[in-house]
Amino acid sequence: MTVQLKTSVARATPIIAVDRAAFKALAPKLPKATQNWLATCGFSGAPDSFALVPGADGKLGQVFAGIGHVAHPFALAALPKALPEGQYHLSDEGLAIPAEQAAMSWELGAYQFDLYKPRSRPAAVLLLAPGAEAERGLALATAISATRDLVNTPAEHMGPEELAQAAALVAKQHGAKFKQIVGDALLKQNFPAIHAVGRAATRAPRLIELNWGSAKHPLVSLVGKGVCFDTGGLDLKSAEGMRQMKKDMGGAANALGLAALIMALKLPVRLQVLIPAVENAVAGNAYRPGDVIKTRKGLHIEIGNTDAEGRVVLSDALAYASEHKPELIIDLATLTGAARVALGAQLPALFTKHMDTGRELVDLGLKLDDPLWHMPLWAPYQEGIASSIGDIVNTGRSALAGAINAALFLEYFVPEQQDWLHIDLFAWNDQARAGRPVGGEAQTIRTLLAYLEERFA
Ligand code: BES
Ligand code: ZN
Ligand code: ZN
Repeated sequence: MTVQLKTSVARATPIIAVDRAAFKALAPKLPKATQNWLATCGFSGAPDSFALVPGADGKLGQVFAGIGHVAHPFALAALPKALPEGQYHLSDEGLAIPAEQAAMSWELGAYQFDLYKPRSRPAAVLLLAPGAEAERGLALATAISATRDLVNTPAEHMGPEELAQAAALVAKQHGAKFKQIVGDALLKQNFPAIHAVGRAATRAPRLIELNWGSAKHPLVSLVGKGVCFDTGGLDLKSAEGMRQMKKDMGGAANALGLAALIMALKLPVRLQVLIPAVENAVAGNAYRPGDVIKTRKGLHIEIGNTDAEGRVVLSDALAYASEHKPELIIDLATLTGAARVALGAQLPALFTKHMDTGRELVDLGLKLDDPLWHMPLWAPYQEGIASSIGDIVNTGRSALAGAINAALFLEYFVPEQQDWLHIDLFAWNDQARAGRPVGGEAQTIRTLLAYLEERFA
């Protein structure tokens, strides 16, 4: 941990956090030499900027750090990798950053995926007073970092089995029960769609399941798309389209991250996590365009395109989740390129029939800087996924409304009265921001956590 919870801050360098307005107010009260130095550096309190100020001995005396607003989740994220190595603490002279945001932003500012390439230097350390808020911030950062690591790990080292091991580790850390149904056992236990998509890979497909919590609490199901690599199958992707497809288990990684938070913070819910984990591969026994596949629910899927595999594996997982009649099902999936065309990398698409829930989640996401955007389950488009020889096709008749078509497809596997949220996400930063390097990313899990806390408190 690059954040240490300690009461004594002796010998740690003070950081004075300011926004532009606070800096304007504070500057005239500073010693003339400090004012001149900060002016020379061009420091104005701009977000993610900082200035090192020497003491009389020429050693580092204090740091001025610019922030956007005090409760920003990445308020201090620009500092840990940029400041000289050593210990720091937040000075009372600056704005008071809530301990949750201070802990989380610092920890994520130090994040680096270092499985193969070691860090060039250790991150600077922040000393924070111990407390529940700081611990919550650290729990958030831990879950987000773990989610990123899972997404960043290449498919060679993150196949269905390794994803199951990662889930088993989360279960062990939090006292949840872990089980999995592997390979041909999927057929015996009636998960034919998961098997059909995953059977061509040399690494066996599986359904991973975690269960946690007390029977007296309401059941919440998290379902995550765990396609460990998506070649597109026989409808092979282009080189460019395939390049990032190690991240096609991003839904599963986010479901595990959210589950870890729910368990670490002991929400009063019972949790079921379901991850259909497969590799969408090419081989002689691969499922084919034109095939008609039976699902757990009994509906027949006509395969219009083997690259629309996510909705196929999710169909069995959603049907199984629904059998337990949970209070709420949330599925998370890197489901469509169309959702990215519509909303870009930063905005996951949320699908729910309930306008009020949509509104509430969008507002929460904006407030927490963990955004998502509500899109419609537009029922009139259902006829666009009708099949003449099966019940539904896994592609739309046209290329229009691809993210809606995928969501409508999933809706067939969730009973009408079942409360359900579907999130189509990117799980990736395509552009670096403070505390958010290019690579795997947790999306919507802080917002969903807050929603669950409000709803089930
Ligand atoms: N995993 C992809 C979706 C995806 C692609 C997400 C790129 C994020 C970035 C998914 O399995 C897929 O290939 N979907 C197809 C569906 C189409 C064949 C109907 C798509 O979106 O092009
Ligand atoms: Zn695909
Ligand atoms: Zn996919």
